[in-house]
Amino acid sequence: MKSILKKSISFTILWIFSSLLLLLAVSGCSFESPQKSGLKEASPFPIGGAIEIRQIAKDTVLKKIIQENFNSITATSDMKMYNILPQEGNYNWRQADSLVSFSTKDNLRLFGHTLVWHSGTPEWVAEKGSKDSLWLAHFLKEYIQTYVGKYKGQVAAWDVVNEGFETQGGDYRKSLWFEVLGKDYIANAFRYTHEADPEAELFYNDFNLERDTSKLNGVLSMVEELKQNGVPITGLGVQMHLRMDIPNALIRESVRKMAATGLKIHFSELDIIFNTHDDTRKGGVQLYKELTPEMLKQQAAKYKEVALIYREEVPESQQFGITFWDFTDRDTWINPFFGLNDWPTIFDENLKPKPAFYGFKEGLQAE
Ligand code: XIL
Repeated sequence: MKSILKKSISFTILWIFSSLLLLLAVSGCSFESPQKSGLKEASPFPIGGAIEIRQIAKDTVLKKIIQENFNSITATSDMKMYNILPQEGNYNWRQADSLVSFSTKDNLRLFGHTLVWHSGTPEWVAEKGSKDSLWLAHFLKEYIQTYVGKYKGQVAAWDVVNEGFETQGGDYRKSLWFEVLGKDYIANAFRYTHEADPEAELFYNDFNLERDTSKLNGVLSMVEELKQNGVPITGLGVQMHLRMDIPNALIRESVRKMAATGLKIHFSELDIIFNTHDDTRKGGVQLYKELTPEMLKQQAAKYKEVALIYREEVPESQQFGITFWDFTDRDTWINPFFGLNDWPTIFDENLKPKPAFYGFKEGLQAE
């Protein structure tokens, strides 16, 4: 008697469960995992975030944000020259190795940032290189071949040269590299990188290209010259450290010009500030004391517009992706770097998505 009762209860449970499943299937519903609401699912092109490996290792919430939203990562500083070769003859692969294994495990594209950058050059290289041009020329080749060769096939793309133009205007930056080796250091860096990993996409990356038309024109003529000389450049990175008052029409027009090069276009370091700075360390002016709901709304609209501009102005075959530079207001580089208290990212101080997150997502999905 007991066993008959047991059987009929199990049967009823089974029946209810199967009917529920059937109902869900018929109505087209599915059990949507929270991951399905991430940015990467909403996007036709890769979405990335900049992080350091130590942040991922110690912060599970941050890690989860990455896993849910991104399919590409860039190292904020782990892969810069001063971290890879802090002293002569002493390569430090630790962080880069960990980034490679994290990205492989989590199916993320790893973007290499950056090989040659005036601010990333360690002191010892500057000292030696400024006295000996032959040494610097040789060092450039050896560094790139060793580094890019080591990660051949594991780093999808490199910012080969970062910020090779002056902060304002269309001239080459008078960096150590330029002063000692002339502008050819750029072409050579691209050639060495291509020799070391012929499959990797190779980017020139810079800032303010969306707002400073003479800088953009300078960079575009350099790109033309490089292409004419057969230099293996395949991408143009625009950092997109935006400010709320940079006109959308200007950004759109600039992105259209970038796309006309035929290169892959990467919005490589996206964030949007409210306050101002003059592009130098601690060069900030705190215009806004606190973040109001109205400001959050305006920022969401701007993030939406950035996604729309990218989708509308960059042909699909050239869409390399959009990367956020630090993606939480807790971790943003803007505040310590410029001495500001700003809110430039898509997640708030408590790592919760801001209206900016939803605005950006809307821009990705809008018909
Ligand atoms: C910044 C990092 O975010 C900071 O943590 C570091 O102190 C300085 O560099 N343009 C770039 C990035 O190409 O490498 C910079 O990253 C931000 C500006």
